[in-house]
Amino acid sequence: LSAPKPKAPRGTHDLLPAQAAARLRVEAAARAILEGAGYERIETPAFEATELFARGVGSSTDIVQKEMYTFADGAGRSLTLRPEGTAPVCRAYVEHGMHKLRQPVKLWYLSSFFRYERAQAGRQRQFWQVGAEALGSSEPALDAESIVLLAQLLSELGLAGGLRLRLSSLGSRDSRAEYGERLREHLRAHEGELASEVRERINLNPLRAFDSEHAGTRAVMARAPRLLDFLDREDAAHFAEVRALLDEAGVAYEVDATLVRGLDYYTRTVFEFTSEELGAQSGVGGGGRYDGLVSQLGGPQTPGMGWAAGIERILLAGQLPVAASPAIDLYVAFEREIGISPPEGGSDGSAVVSAAGRERRDGGSQVSVAFGVLCAARAAGLSAQMEFAGRSLKNQLGHANRLGARYVAIVGAGETTLKDMQSGGQETIAADTVVHAVLRGLHEL
Ligand code: HAM
Repeated sequence: LSAPKPKAPRGTHDLLPAQAAARLRVEAAARAILEGAGYERIETPAFEATELFARGVGSSTDIVQKEMYTFADGAGRSLTLRPEGTAPVCRAYVEHGMHKLRQPVKLWYLSSFFRYERAQAGRQRQFWQVGAEALGSSEPALDAESIVLLAQLLSELGLAGGLRLRLSSLGSRDSRAEYGERLREHLRAHEGELASEVRERINLNPLRAFDSEHAGTRAVMARAPRLLDFLDREDAAHFAEVRALLDEAGVAYEVDATLVRGLDYYTRTVFEFTSEELGAQSGVGGGGRYDGLVSQLGGPQTPGMGWAAGIERILLAGQLPVAASPAIDLYVAFEREIGISPPEGGSDGSAVVSAAGRERRDGGSQVSVAFGVLCAARAAGLSAQMEFAGRSLKNQLGHANRLGARYVAIVGAGETTLKDMQSGGQETIAADTVVHAVLRGLHEL
C-alpha cells in the first residue's frame, strides 16, 4: 500500500502562477492608492504572544474564544498565529515609540492571517488581508478618508457594481456601557425567545446578538434599543461629520444601527463593505475607529482608525481579467551539438570532461555560447530565456513563439542567426553582437 499523497491542510490553498497575476494586481492597486495617501508599509510577525489578542481583540469575541491557532513554543510561551492585523500594528506602534513621530502615523500591510473557522467558499483558515491603519488622529475627516480609500481600491479592482457600504457608530466606551445595560434588560425580558448561545452571552457581549441568524433572536433584536440613539453629543457630532464628508465625496452608504463588528476594540465609526457577488461570506472588507486600543496595550492615549479587506474575497467578487504573462525580448535557442556526450560509465570520465572544456575554449560549445548570450542579454536589461528542456530546434521556435519572444537567437555550430519574430526576417551575426542587435531593434520600434 502506498501512503496517501500529502494535501494542503483544510482551509488553506496554494497560490498557483495562474492566480498570482490577479493577486499582484490587487497588491499594485493597494500600494498605489495607499502610498499615494501617505500610508507606509509595515510587516509584523506571523505570530505574537497570545496575550496580545486576548487583550486587544477581546476575550469575549469568537476569534479569541474559538478561532485562534495557539501553541506553546519550546520554552513554554503561549503564542498565537495572528488572526488579524490591528492589534499587532498597535503593539508595534507602542513598542517602537511611534507616538513620537509626526501624527497621524499611517501604515498599511498585505499579509496572511489565521483563523480556525469552518472552511467554505470565501472563508479560509489561512487567508490574506490588505489593511490600512492610521494612528494619532481623531478627526472625522480621517475616518472619511480611510473609508474612501477602501471604496476607491474596491472600485479600481472591479467590485463597484455589487457593493454595499454599511456604516454605524458604536460611540465611546461610556455611552456603550449605558446602552449595554439597556440592551441586557431587553434581552433578559425576552430570554425564552433567544438562541442558547445568545442567552449565554447576555452578560459578556450582548451586542453580538445583532449578528445572530436565529429567527427568534432576530425578532427580539428588531425591537431592541439602538445604540445610535444612545450616542453622547460629541460622538453624535463626530458621526454626523463623517457622514457629511462621505456625502461630499459621493460615496453611497446605508446607516445600519445593527452593524456590530466581531472585534471588541471598536469605538465610534464602524463600517463594512459587502458584495452581492459573494455568497454567505459577503464581507469584503471592514473596519472602524479604535480610540482605546493603543492605551489598552500600554501606550499613550492614541486614537486610531483603519480597515482590512480579504484578498480572496476581492478576487472572488471582482473577477479580475487574467493578465497574460508578459512577452519576452529574446529567446536563445541552440542546436544540440553532436559528439559531446556526458562521460560514460567505465571510461575515464575526467578525460571526457577536459575534452569538452577544450572544445569550449577552442570555439565554444553551442550551450556555452547560448548561455553567454543569455547572461549578456540580462545584464543589458533585456528579458530573456533559453532552452532547458532538450527540445528539437523546431520545437524551440514554437516554444519561443508561445512565450511571445520578440527575437530568437539560434546558436548553431559556428554561426548564430537572429530572427525577428515580428517581421520574420533573419540575419546571420556574430554571437557577441546579438544583444546589441536586439537593443537596436527594440529601440527602432
Ligand atoms: P475582519 O472583519 O475580521 O476585520 O476581517 C476583514 C476582512 O478579512 C473581512 O471582511 C474578510 O474579507 C476577510 N476575512 C476575515 N476572515 C476571513 C476568512 N476566514 N477567510 C477569508 N477572508 C477572511 C479585521 O480583521 C480588522 N482587523 C479590520 C480592521 C483594521 N479594523 C480596524 N483596522
